[in-house]
Formats: sequence, C-alpha cells, structure tokens
Amino acid sequence: MKIEPKRSSISLVIFGATGDLAWRKLIPALYNLFLDDLLPGQFSIYGVYRKPLGQEEWRKHLHEGTDRFSRRGKTDAAKWKAFAQHLQAFRIGDFNDTETFTALSKALTEEEKAWGGHSEHIYYLATPPALVETIVRHLDQARLTRNHRHSRVVVEKPFGRDLDSAQALNRSLRKFLDESQIYRIDHYLGKETVQNILAFRFANLFFEPIWNRNYIDHVQITVAEKIGVEHRGEYYDHAGALRDMIQNHLLQVLCLVAMEPPVAFSAEEIRDRKVEVLRALRPIPRDQMGRYAVRGQYGHGWIEGEHVPDYRSEPAVDPDSAAETFAALKLFVDNWRWQDVPFYLRTGKRLAQKVSQVVIQLRPIPHQSFPPSASLDWQPNRIMIDIQPHEAITQCLQVKHPGPETKLSAHNMVFRYTDAFKTTLPEAYETLLLDTMKGDATLFMRADQVEYAWTVVDDILKVWNGIDQVNFPDYAAGSWGPEGAETLIARDGRSWVNPVFMD
Ligand code: BG6
Repeated sequence: MKIEPKRSSISLVIFGATGDLAWRKLIPALYNLFLDDLLPGQFSIYGVYRKPLGQEEWRKHLHEGTDRFSRRGKTDAAKWKAFAQHLQAFRIGDFNDTETFTALSKALTEEEKAWGGHSEHIYYLATPPALVETIVRHLDQARLTRNHRHSRVVVEKPFGRDLDSAQALNRSLRKFLDESQIYRIDHYLGKETVQNILAFRFANLFFEPIWNRNYIDHVQITVAEKIGVEHRGEYYDHAGALRDMIQNHLLQVLCLVAMEPPVAFSAEEIRDRKVEVLRALRPIPRDQMGRYAVRGQYGHGWIEGEHVPDYRSEPAVDPDSAAETFAALKLFVDNWRWQDVPFYLRTGKRLAQKVSQVVIQLRPIPHQSFPPSASLDWQPNRIMIDIQPHEAITQCLQVKHPGPETKLSAHNMVFRYTDAFKTTLPEAYETLLLDTMKGDATLFMRADQVEYAWTVVDDILKVWNGIDQVNFPDYAAGSWGPEGAETLIARDGRSWVNPVFMD
C-alpha cells in the first residue's frame, strides 16, 4: 500500500547533514516540496552531524545553500523562516555510539506522541559509504527500523566498488532491513526526461513498432560534463568514470531504452523488466576489451575561454593517477528485440559540452527513390532524447526544400519541455524524496539491479586494472574525449552525434 505524504506525518533523519549533498541537493529539494505544498503539516527534518555547529548556524548554512542551489533561485524570507522551523539539529560525537541512536529514538517517539499517531520514518544516509553498515546496525538495535511498512532507509551511491563489495553490502543491509525498506538512489532516475522515456515509449503507439533491431541501427548514450573533479578528487581518484557514472546512471538509462513493455507501472514490474536487460548484456570478451571499452583522462585545456588544469594536478589527486575521467563502451543486449544492435555509451569530465542525450539512429531507408542530387544533405533518421540541459525530444527527418527543384535535407521536429510546460521542472531529488515519503520504490535500485550492473563493469575493471601502463592524459579539456572513443565507433562505420547547442 502506498502512503499519501500529505495525509501522513513524516520524520526525515539525514545522517551527514552538514555535507555537500544536504547543502546542495537535499535541503533545496525539501524546501521546494514545501513551497509546492507537497509536505504534510506534520513533518520534521532531523540533521545528524558531527561538526561543532549549533542549530542556528546549521540552519544558516542550509539557508545559504538553498539560496544558491534551489531551482527557484533565492528563497523568500518568510517562507524560509516557516520551513526552517522544521529543521532540527541533532549533533553527535560518533556515528558508532549507541547513545546517539537511543536519543534519536526518544526524540522520534516523543514527536510521534505529540503528533498523536504513528509517523513515517525515513533515514537518509548522506554519509561516506564506510558508515552505512554501522548506521543501519545501530538503527536496528535502537528498534528504529523494525517496522517494515513505516520506516525506510535511503542509501546513496557509491553502492560498492565492485561486484563483491556490492554483494557484501547488500548482505549486511539485509541482515537488518527488509529489501522493501531499502531505497538505493540513482538520481538520474529522478530526472523528468529520464522518466519520460517510459511515457514516450509506452504511452504512444508511434515508436514501439519500430523500437527493435529491424528498424534501429544503433543507440548512443552520452553523459558529458564540462566540470572537472572539483573538490571530489579523493573519492574520484579511487572511483573513475566507469564506477562513478556508467555502473549506475548510464546503464539505468540504457535499461529504460531497451526494456520490454511493463504489464503495470509498479515498482517490481518495472525493476524486473530492467533487470532482464542487464541480464541480457553480452559479456565483453576479455581478450578483445580494447574493441569494446575505451578509457581516457583529461589533460589541461580550455573551457569557456578559461585555461583549466589537467586531472593529475587537481586537488587530492595522485600526480601519477591512472583513474579514467572518460569511458566509452560498446554493448550488446542479447535478446530478440536487440540482437546485434550496438549500444554505444560514453561519459567524461571536462568535455566540450554539458549534455546528457540518448540518440536512437534508425536504419537507412530500404530503397532510395530520389536521385542522388536531391539529397545532398542526407542524414539518417534519428530520435534524440535530451535529458539535460535542454530537455527535449527531437526527431530528425528528411524534408523537401520549398521550390521547383526536388531537394531534400534533414530537419528536426522538436518537443521542448519549456515550450509545452510553462514551469520549471522539479529537480531529481524532489521527485525521489517525495517517492521515499510515499513508499514508492519504482525509481530506486533493487539489490539485483545493482549487482547485475556491477557484473558488466567488473569485467572491464579487471582487464583495465591489469594494465600498468596507461598513456594518460590523452584528451584535452574542452574536447570530446580521447581518439580511442572515435575509433571505437568509427570501426563500425558510425560516428558520435555531438550536440551543437550552446548553453
Ligand atoms: C554523480 C557523479 O553521480 O553525477 C558526479 O558522482 C557527476 O561525478 C554527477 O558530476 C552528474 O550529475 P548531473 O545530474 O549533473 O548530470
């Protein structure tokens, strides 16, 4: 049974409440839910943290973060004041201290009494991954998560660093929690355009008949960023692009593009269909890894007229680092629908554009009736799903130029979110936080999804880790990545579709 957040009382406990995630994403998202009147009258947000920061200082810090990062811009003073009343600081000495959890339990019980009934309890672990098991064990010992229907735990990535560690983490979470209580976040799934892939495919008749190997030549999924590693060098240098982006975000997008139609729009059904895709991914032959997987690392270069340093000079990065800041893969989904249709995936930091885009390229028409002179600017039919920054769905079609001559060229038929809906789209974290409150796990990762995704990535990591010498850096900041990524796709007679818009 789903919960109605508006009609329930909700206590949300954020562990790691002075961290970056709470500052940039969680609190701005909760503030926006508050403005949209989507939170219940009775709700509180407990911030559990270790920093020597009093409640008012903590609230001030969050206020600054919300002013900077809320999609609505600077906060309204009166509205922030009303929202901030719900922010309760819960400063502790140690996450491994039983007393902390006993005190938390007491506070929540008292609150529930004051509210006159039971409330939904959500524990959001915005902490380093090493603390996850400790916190979950203590929550269990303090009997805070024993009610499976009304208590949930949100776990952030990274969810393990390989298949073994992800399996171990799943085992230890399930010692204390039921799978239905575990909400593993992949924020890409909360993005409106990502969710719209399902609506686009399964609420329309246009596309599904051609959505298969008979009509689709190949699929490209690009998640490109202009930013470098910023202040996250320590984490990133041990992760790299494959773990940081492909294992989760890009593979999840691939699942939405490739999955079979669900019988119903329910969490288990959707997740089952996605797992089928991951299970069908063809293992990459280890001795041919170079033909299927390419990595790169950025050197210095120019972004928006500014000179930026190479990855190895970024703070907290090993000066000889072999971490990849770019990865490109060619994958196949071995089933009836997709047999031999390549899925090309690429992601990287310090690339030419910030863009997340899916390109579905159709096969050539079976017979060319027009004379070659008519089609000088011929381009394949494409369906392009722009996830960000300009949310849109575009079909690239051949059209006839006006005039007496028969001349064809490619033009776009575009559905833009900003044209259709005169409102800013909710941030991914707004959607996902609301779903946790509702108890709707559709957009969250089930244990088997995470593990199958690691299976794909693990094979690549094993081969890469076995190669000592890497020729890094091998692409300039501000470019579209290393030469190897071009070769990966060019070898098949295809090329990457790079977006041309400027942001
Ligand atoms: C995170 C990665 O999961 O996604 C970051 O850890 C990356 O390295 C970020 O920058 C990208 O998210 P978005 O929403 O900006 O595309």
